[in-house]
Amino acid sequence: MRLANRMEQIGIESAFDVLVSARALEESGRSVIHLEIGEPDFRTPAHIVEAAKQALDEGWTRYGPTQGLPELRQVIAEHVSHTRKVQVGPEHVCVVPGGKPILFFPMLALLEPGDEVIFPNPGFPIYESMIRFLGAKPVPIPLVEERSFSFDLDILRKSLTSRTKMLILNSPQNPTGGVIPEEDVREIASLVAERDLIVLSDEIYSRICYEPEPPVSIASLPGMLEKTIILDGFSKTYAMTGWRIGYGVMPLWLVDAVNKLMVNSNSCTASFTQRAAITALTGPQTEVESMVQEFRSRRDAFCDALNRIPGFRCALPGGAFYAFANIRETGVPSKQLADMLLEEAGVACLNGGAFGEYGEGYIRFSYANSRDNLMEAARRIKAMSVRWFR
Ligand SMILES: Cc1ncc(COP(=O)(O)O)c(C=O)c1O
Repeated sequence: MRLANRMEQIGIESAFDVLVSARALEESGRSVIHLEIGEPDFRTPAHIVEAAKQALDEGWTRYGPTQGLPELRQVIAEHVSHTRKVQVGPEHVCVVPGGKPILFFPMLALLEPGDEVIFPNPGFPIYESMIRFLGAKPVPIPLVEERSFSFDLDILRKSLTSRTKMLILNSPQNPTGGVIPEEDVREIASLVAERDLIVLSDEIYSRICYEPEPPVSIASLPGMLEKTIILDGFSKTYAMTGWRIGYGVMPLWLVDAVNKLMVNSNSCTASFTQRAAITALTGPQTEVESMVQEFRSRRDAFCDALNRIPGFRCALPGGAFYAFANIRETGVPSKQLADMLLEEAGVACLNGGAFGEYGEGYIRFSYANSRDNLMEAARRIKAMSVRWFR
C-alpha cells in the first residue's frame, strides 16, 4: 500500500533518533551522558502527582469536554491574563494533550498550499515539518547570534508579503535559548499590526527565563491579542513532559475549528491530568522557582566550561535549558562533530543543522542533567577537542 504523497513532506525530531543511538551505545557497555533530549530532569512536584492520584480516586476517568474542563480553562485564563498583562477569558482557552497540538491544529485549520509562513531558523523542527506537510511555503528567518539569537529584522521586513499568513515566534527559544528583546517584539508587532496574518507565539519556555524581566509576549501589545495564538503548557514548567497536557489561547473565531480537530482526533485531554494541572497552576510555585535557579547555575557553569574548550564558543542563553555552542572554529561540520561527540566522547547532543540550515556550525546541548554529569561531559568534550583541534 502506498502512503499518501503528503507523508513525503512530514519531518521528524532528531532528538528522538539520537536518543535511540545513544541507548544502543549504552547497551554495548559504553557510558553516555545524555544532553540531547529537551526535558527537565526533575520529577513532577509531589503535590501535583498527589492531585492526579486523588482525581483518579474521585473518578476523573471519563471523557470530558473537548475544549477542556471549564475550571482548568478558567485558571489558565487568569494565569495568562496575569502573566501576559492581557484580558482573556476561559472561552479563549483550548486544553490539548501537550503543547504540540497547538502547532498542529491551528496550522491545519489555517494553512493552504501557497500560503507563506515565516519562522525562526534554527528553530523547533516541527514548525517547518508542519508547514511543508500542509503544502504551505516555509520562509525561514535567520537568527543572529550577536543579537541574542533574535531575528534579523531587515530580513523579516523583506520577507513579509501579501501571501504571509502566519508568523511563528518562539521566546525563550529552542534550540538557542535566546529571548527576543522587548524592542524587537515591539518592532515585529509594528511590522505585522496592519497585515492580515496570525502570529503563533510559542511560549512553552516562558517560565524558564533568567533575564531580570519575564519575556514580553507579542499578545500584550496594542491590537495584537486578536491576531495571536499563545502556545503554552505544563511539560517544561512543571516537569510534566510525559503527562501530555498543554494549551492554546486564541481569538474566538479560531476556537471552534481547533475544537473540531480535537474532537476528530483526541476527543478530549485526559480528565485526571487536567485536575492535576489545576493544582499545578494554583498550588505552590516554589519547586518551579528552585528548578529555574538550578538551571541557571548549571547554565553558568556549563557555558563557562564550554568556552574553555578549543574551537567552542557559547553565548550565555537567556532562557530554556539549552546551550547552543558555536563550533565553527573546529572546522568540522555540525553533524560530524555531534556524531564524534557521541561515539568518541560518549556525549549525546544535537547537530545544530537538525534545526534548520542556519543552525549549521552549532551544537545544541541540553543542560537538563546533573551538574556532575555536565562537568564530566565538558571534560570529555575538552579531551576530545584537544586531541583533534589543537
Ligand atoms: C519550542 C517548543 N515548542 C513546543 C514544544 C512541545 O511541547 P510538548 O512536549 O508540551 O508538546 C517543545 C518541546 O520540546 C518545544 O521545544
